[in-house]
Amino acid sequence: MTEQIANIERAATSAIQRAGTTQALEDVRIQYLGRKAELPNLLRGVAQLPPEERAATGKAANQARQRLEAALEHKAGELAATELDARLAEDRVDITLPGDPLPSIGRLHLMTRTRREIEDVFVGLGFNVAEGPEIESVYYNFDALNHASTHPSRLETDTFYIEPDPAHPAPPDIFDPSTRLLRVHTSPAQIHAMESQPPPIYIIVPGRVYRPDSDATHTPQFHQIEGLAVDEDVTLADLKGTLLTFARAIFGPEREVRLRPHFFPFTEPSVEVDVSCFNCTQGITADGQRCPLCKGTAWIEILGSGMVDPNVFDHVADHGYDPEKVQGFAFGMGIERIAMLKHGVPDLRLFYDNDIRFLEQF
Ligand code: PHE
Repeated sequence: MTEQIANIERAATSAIQRAGTTQALEDVRIQYLGRKAELPNLLRGVAQLPPEERAATGKAANQARQRLEAALEHKAGELAATELDARLAEDRVDITLPGDPLPSIGRLHLMTRTRREIEDVFVGLGFNVAEGPEIESVYYNFDALNHASTHPSRLETDTFYIEPDPAHPAPPDIFDPSTRLLRVHTSPAQIHAMESQPPPIYIIVPGRVYRPDSDATHTPQFHQIEGLAVDEDVTLADLKGTLLTFARAIFGPEREVRLRPHFFPFTEPSVEVDVSCFNCTQGITADGQRCPLCKGTAWIEILGSGMVDPNVFDHVADHGYDPEKVQGFAFGMGIERIAMLKHGVPDLRLFYDNDIRFLEQF
């Protein structure tokens, strides 16, 4: 009987050693120590043995079972460890590999970049950035800016008016100061700014403006930056110096500016400001052609400006703007125009087409 036990133990031990997986080991356990296995059966049969054999057989079988259980436990530990290693090796993530290509995070629109560039120049000169409403009244857009009642831009062909009552469409009263409209320029922000703070004032006002025009150089909605400086002893020379600094910062250090007489209702005198062409010399390009940018004139118009008309100050005299005491200059430029000139954009509508091939060039 002890011989038989020893044989079983030997067979079981070697099966345990050979088991290559946790599952195979479990099969071995069931085969040798399970309920129907030989060794436990033997143990259960010990009681039927002749008394002189019982003790020795029982002891041998018990010890064999204990050794096999220990061997099983040991082997189970080994297998669990190698199986974990294998799983880890299989699931391994190489954190040194480059990730999936990043989705393009995009860029600022050329309009935004140009606006910020211009703002930076004037902020550097001591101007603050202000804002004004896009829905204005006839008073702010025209009257307070000294527009005669006959001024052509008041016409419905030149200005988007807002119907007073959409339920009862009727032509707007374009001479009523309270009639609402979409501002045609950022200049009404001059009045709002002066109403809200006494002189001295040095502000620029970027924003959207609206006009019923549409072609390669006009869109119904575009952007302007207004400038306003009011103080004591402000002269046209200050205006010119300010705009020269601006022109050189945006178009290059070699630039010059020139002022040409013009007319705006709210400035007197009024000037149009040209910057010397950065694409040619004296109107002739490097390869001897007439410069297409300045059309051979060597100058490019960049904005309108002038000294604030005293009639404008009259509208804000109650806010500390005594026309006898303060002077100011104002200017207004189209942001699209500055961007088109600087980057050679041939058609204004490209800014609003959202064509990625265009946008990615800047
Ligand atoms: N508002 C004018 C325009 O839109 C530009 C301008 C602004 C002119 C300020 C003079 C002073 O054309």
